Amino acid sequence: MLVGAGCVVDHLQTDVAPPREEVLARIEGAAGVVTMMSDRVDDPFLSAAGDTLRVVANFAVGYDNIDLAACSRRSVRATNTPGVLTEATADIAWALIMATARRVIEGDRKVREGRWQGWYPTELLGVELHGATLGIVGAGRIGTATARRALGFGMHILYTHPRANPELEQEQRAQRVPLDELIEAADIVSLHVPYRPENRHLIDAARLARMKPGALLINTARGPIIDERALLAALQSDRLRAGLDVYEHEPQLTPGLTELPNVVLLPHLGSGTVATRQRMSEMVANNILAVLRDEPPPHPIS
Ligand code: DGY
Repeated sequence: MLVGAGCVVDHLQTDVAPPREEVLARIEGAAGVVTMMSDRVDDPFLSAAGDTLRVVANFAVGYDNIDLAACSRRSVRATNTPGVLTEATADIAWALIMATARRVIEGDRKVREGRWQGWYPTELLGVELHGATLGIVGAGRIGTATARRALGFGMHILYTHPRANPELEQEQRAQRVPLDELIEAADIVSLHVPYRPENRHLIDAARLARMKPGALLINTARGPIIDERALLAALQSDRLRAGLDVYEHEPQLTPGLTELPNVVLLPHLGSGTVATRQRMSEMVANNILAVLRDEPPPHPIS
């Protein structure tokens, strides 16, 4: 491990997040802690580490799990891993778009379970992507990379973002529109905003009701951006289809979701390629080592 070159490392050898009490006990006296998005970095966490703590390096680009004000109050630096997971996450958004639009998982199950009895004209009909309208909610790095991939599909792009995105507008004739206009016009709505309290349930029952019948909702950002119970109801009424990589109460899913055929469910795989996770590990190590050497970390968030 790169960080081992300059420090004594206490490495939790587990793939399943240990109980919080165990994490809090283990971090006492640490100078730096590598956190996952499932670790809540708040006052109790920072107190458990104690005065020795100088840096919290999040193994993720999203940092909604970190209370930045609490870190600043204790002069603890926080860092993340921006940029390196953009393309991998855009790929997973497209894996979900394709699987959801063309009913790939339903088809696979049908064949595997021996239920396929031969070709017929109305079998598992899906959504035509060519010429469809893709709505990108949040045209930052990942939203832009997701939109860029739509070029080969001849899609029309709508997007929301606090500022105009000249790359999308020039290269793809994308149009920036208000969220409700996008929701009503898009055949596919793909979410790419960071999670902040004001984005909780950005896609609520009212917005789900405004989506076109048969439209697809794709979420590779953060679960709480969608009101998952409202989505369940919309999916149960068969008005929409959805592709989800993230969940409101991860890793718990709203009961009923796994029983529906019109939703594709992934276990938060956005950044999950060997190359991307390797780059994220290197960034985390470089962020920690920089702070411990009294240098500015390459990717600070506080
Ligand atoms: C992130 O980095 O925020 C992703 O959700 C996990 O890689």
